[in-house]
Amino acid sequence: MLGKTLCIGVGSMGGALLRGALQHGVLKASDTHILVRREEQCKALTEELGVVGFTTMPNVHEYNTILLAVKPQVLPSVLETLKEVPYGTVMISVAAGITLDTLDAAIPQANWFRTMPNTPASIGAGMTALAGDDVHTDLGRDVQALFEAVGEVAVVSEADLDRLGALSGAGPGYMFVILDALADAGVRIGLPRHLAIKAAAQTMYGAGKMALESGNHPAVLRDQVTSPGGTTIAGIGAMEKGGLRSALQDGVVACLARSNELGK
Ligand SMILES: NC(=O)c1ccc[n+]([C@@H]2O[C@H](COP(=O)([O-])OP(=O)(O)OC[C@H]3O[C@@H](n4cnc5c(N)ncnc54)[C@H](OP(=O)(O)O)[C@@H]3O)[C@@H](O)[C@H]2O)c1
Repeated sequence: MLGKTLCIGVGSMGGALLRGALQHGVLKASDTHILVRREEQCKALTEELGVVGFTTMPNVHEYNTILLAVKPQVLPSVLETLKEVPYGTVMISVAAGITLDTLDAAIPQANWFRTMPNTPASIGAGMTALAGDDVHTDLGRDVQALFEAVGEVAVVSEADLDRLGALSGAGPGYMFVILDALADAGVRIGLPRHLAIKAAAQTMYGAGKMALESGNHPAVLRDQVTSPGGTTIAGIGAMEKGGLRSALQDGVVACLARSNELGK
């Protein structure tokens, strides 16, 4: 068990994690405290989640686990205020691009875990990468369970965590652009916008679910829907001529490069 837990920053990601973990009983509301910046946010969250809230740093000696869910730019100043955490405190960062070495150097007595979740965690369909020296211990499995409360978890090396950040961490952003583009295409061929969006989103969801549930390679699934001389292969051909595949590859590579730059 992660024990008494302090979550610092309850925005999109911190909120998604807390809601999932509390709903699934991975965290107990009575053992969960939050630190946010604004009084009104603190009041709303404590009422909604039944947790204890603070707007100034509580006594860090009280906590077994500290979850850091602030933006990477804010993290260094927050770490400054956590210098005195007791030896062995479990500290979990969701911040993109901040390495375990940097986290360790800031607070060497903590037991650090790095994670890279994504926003579908807010509906229990997240994909989280988890890395740290102790990922394969009982403690690591407790941290894993926290993120499994909001979706799938891959326990990986730190290098792969950064790579997954550029694929699944940023991925919802890519998917929303693709969804919007497909909806535009639907409108262009005469569909009403709301129907085009619904059809595109349900198709994206269904195709992803099929790939996950069948375990088949995507090329096999694509082959099953492209009859010789047919309509779907005509569509795919035009999309690939337009650079669909290489644009997606370049996008993921650019995202990783930017994350490496920010982490320096
Ligand atoms: N969103 C994603 O897709 C995604 C994916 C993977 C990882 N992450 C990581 O998740 C982390 C949080 O991102 P987010 O998207 O959840 O951002 P967010 O919605 O802006 O949430 C950050 C929260 O931190 C609060 N905060 C700022 N300074 C604070 C302080 N000193 N003490 C306590 N709370 C403070 C902010 O409060 P105010 O509103 O008052 O400023 C805000 O509520 C980032 O490190 C990011 O790299 C995000």
